[in-house]
Amino acid sequence: MKYGYFDDTNKEYIITSPNTPLPWINYLGSDNFFSLISNTCGGYSFYKDAKMLRLTRYRYNNVPQDCNGRYYYIKEENDIWTPGWQPVKTSLDEYSCRHGLGYSIFSSAKNNLQATLLAFVPRNDNCEINQLKLKNNSNKEKKISLFSYVEFCLWNAVDDMTNFQRNYSIGEVEVHGSEIYHKTEYRERRNHYAVYAVNSPVDGFDTSRDAFIGPYKSVEGPEVVAAGKSTNSIASGWAPIGSHNINIILQPGEEKSFIFVLGYIENPSDDKWESDNIINKKPARELLNRYNTDEKVESALLKLKQHWNHLLDHFNLESNDDKLNRMVNIWNQYQCMVTFNMSRSASYFESGTGRGMGFRDSCQDLLGFVHLIPDRARERILDIAATQFEDGSAYHQYQPLTKKGNLDIGSGFNDDPLWLIACVSAYIKETGDIGILNEMVPFDNNEEKSQTLMEHLRRSFQYTNTHLGPHKLPLIGRADWNDCLNLNCFSNEPGESFQTCSNFESGKAESVFIAAMFVKYGKEYAKICNLIGLGEETDKVLESVENMYNAILDHGWDGEWFLRAYDAYSEKIGSKECASGQIFIEPQGFCVLAGVGVKEGLAQKALDSVKERLDTRYGVMLLQPAYTKYHLNLGEISSYPPGYKENAGIFCHNNPWISIAETVLGRGDRAFEVYSKICPAYIEDISEIHRTEPYVYSQMIAGRDAAAHGEAKNSWLTGTAAWTFVNVSQYILGIMPAYDGLSVDPCIPKSMDTFKIKRKFRNATYNITIHNPKHVEKGVKSLTVNGQEMEGILIPLLPGVTQYDVTVIMG
Ligand code: BGC
Ligand code: NOJ
Repeated sequence: MKYGYFDDTNKEYIITSPNTPLPWINYLGSDNFFSLISNTCGGYSFYKDAKMLRLTRYRYNNVPQDCNGRYYYIKEENDIWTPGWQPVKTSLDEYSCRHGLGYSIFSSAKNNLQATLLAFVPRNDNCEINQLKLKNNSNKEKKISLFSYVEFCLWNAVDDMTNFQRNYSIGEVEVHGSEIYHKTEYRERRNHYAVYAVNSPVDGFDTSRDAFIGPYKSVEGPEVVAAGKSTNSIASGWAPIGSHNINIILQPGEEKSFIFVLGYIENPSDDKWESDNIINKKPARELLNRYNTDEKVESALLKLKQHWNHLLDHFNLESNDDKLNRMVNIWNQYQCMVTFNMSRSASYFESGTGRGMGFRDSCQDLLGFVHLIPDRARERILDIAATQFEDGSAYHQYQPLTKKGNLDIGSGFNDDPLWLIACVSAYIKETGDIGILNEMVPFDNNEEKSQTLMEHLRRSFQYTNTHLGPHKLPLIGRADWNDCLNLNCFSNEPGESFQTCSNFESGKAESVFIAAMFVKYGKEYAKICNLIGLGEETDKVLESVENMYNAILDHGWDGEWFLRAYDAYSEKIGSKECASGQIFIEPQGFCVLAGVGVKEGLAQKALDSVKERLDTRYGVMLLQPAYTKYHLNLGEISSYPPGYKENAGIFCHNNPWISIAETVLGRGDRAFEVYSKICPAYIEDISEIHRTEPYVYSQMIAGRDAAAHGEAKNSWLTGTAAWTFVNVSQYILGIMPAYDGLSVDPCIPKSMDTFKIKRKFRNATYNITIHNPKHVEKGVKSLTVNGQEMEGILIPLLPGVTQYDVTVIMG
């Protein structure tokens, strides 16, 4: 069952029923000011950091769900409704929500009154614009009373929902005409405030939530709206809100437009006040003036659309599969940009108050957006590397505002260092900028301890190389990619849980997954060494990689698939000898994509075992059989009920690894099957089962052991977006950046015919046409570049050439 449809021309998903299985959201903002907006107008806004600088209040896990947002109540006689349906939930004569790239548009109608609400964050300004157009489609004059509503958050979102003894006494506002200023804490340590204003005179306002809503009432039916008249309340403590009241008369056929702006302002400390405790409103007024007419708003929206068109022009596919085209060209890349902006911080499943930026997450996210915004990728790499320690290990997370490593979580996740090599090599291949290796980057953000980025990579590599266990495989530490596989948890205390384990290093627990990463990114590091003329180091690195390769074959192979790990007692994890958790997805995907076991014929066996044991109609599960009992010595993994999350859920992030691994073996049909099973556009028709947004990936889909097999959770902020884009663009469609050019080596379903790709790469445009006359899955028979036939699969960089016309014949 569907709840909407894709509009590929406008790059929108159009939701036609407000009653979606879960709120289906969109993200507004590209730089510093961001908003989440659901298909019923719920959500919140923040500046830079969703925990520290939150502008509006949102209640997670609320009943009814998702009922705080930017609301526009329309009252006509006794009918009260809102264009996004919530929170009033009056049945509407018409409803649609179009989620586009960085904007959302609600079109609704009731009693021949048409409301169109456009919401977006303009580029380069810190505000959300809500343009509301009301049109009288009847043949009688209409009298309408309009009430706007936002509820302010007292900035620090954690304090805001915990420290009530203080919060209820600190709220402060100022009202000047149509401008409502939220200035809580401004008098003290702050230099920022929020403004919520409309470009029209108002007939009243409210800033006290109690006055507006009324005691024991809710946003569903505020007293002020029912009465049709604001109370002009000035909040003093309690809960400050912003609400305007405008009385409107519309003649038949007449349309009026109102532009509401919610803005964030920072004043320099010496310029805080206009007079005694009256804030300096000049910068707010300048901001409001930039968006006070429809023309200005439309031109800002156009600029936003141009920005997106420009970005998406970097990779464009034309094939005869519409679903593939729309995912590759629009939604997958869009989601990559959102994960770049948010990391794992703010979604409808991440409260914005917990995790900062993850080291491994940010490195992997970069793989999916580096072709779109290489300059910002460069900055991001330097920020991430600065949170590394001198020994090559790293803080697992850092705060976006301070960019400092997060002490509460610390380090010890032994896969982290190698992800730095992954993202730096991807960046260099995309841009050719080897100069980045000479950048001086501090360790642990201490400028005095700075070394080149190359030295950081060296320490990443050496960290793994020097932390090996009894089988010469890398020590796992607290966990590797799988945060929940905590093999150094042991205790004899009854009732002990994984949360209390504090010894992260038995010196024994080893990870086959990190071993595979070491092979993959060790080879990459060797190429970097070679590129900058470090011949001796290259050889040494390759020798270590070779040793690791052999260690995997000797101690990481279980007969039919790769082993997952050894625990703190050197017992096998992910082996046919285990009762539960016999086979794990991660080492099968990563070993094969790193090339381990390919020539020995093990790779094929491993992937066949995946198909046989882990595959389902909704995607590939993380492990089987699921753990049914809790095992302290395995950590968090078995704390999950069977079928959920890391305990045998379909963890989408590592499905692309399997698909990539299949392309390494040349099995294009299977690679595509794995790709499409979890691909949102291909499962749009089962939205009632999948439940999350059909235009973006979710972190997890419930596995076969779960009650709701096929149901997704944790949409939007997941490494799935980046890895899938890497998979589909570089391995399936086969357009892969290399240090010395762009290589073309598709691995596709046999049925696929001709397809075209436009790729921007190192300041040149590549128009690539790929023909598959013999209907093969892999294999390039000829490659012609600007009329010249090439040897092999590489389009070399031709000096001075900015236009490459490329024809590839598979066969
Ligand atoms: C989740 C993991 C996640 C981790 C992050 C765990 O509870 O299961 O998926 O990576 O938290 O801290
Ligand atoms: C989500 C985390 O953000 C990611 O870093 C981790 O690899 C996966 N969960 C798997 O545990």
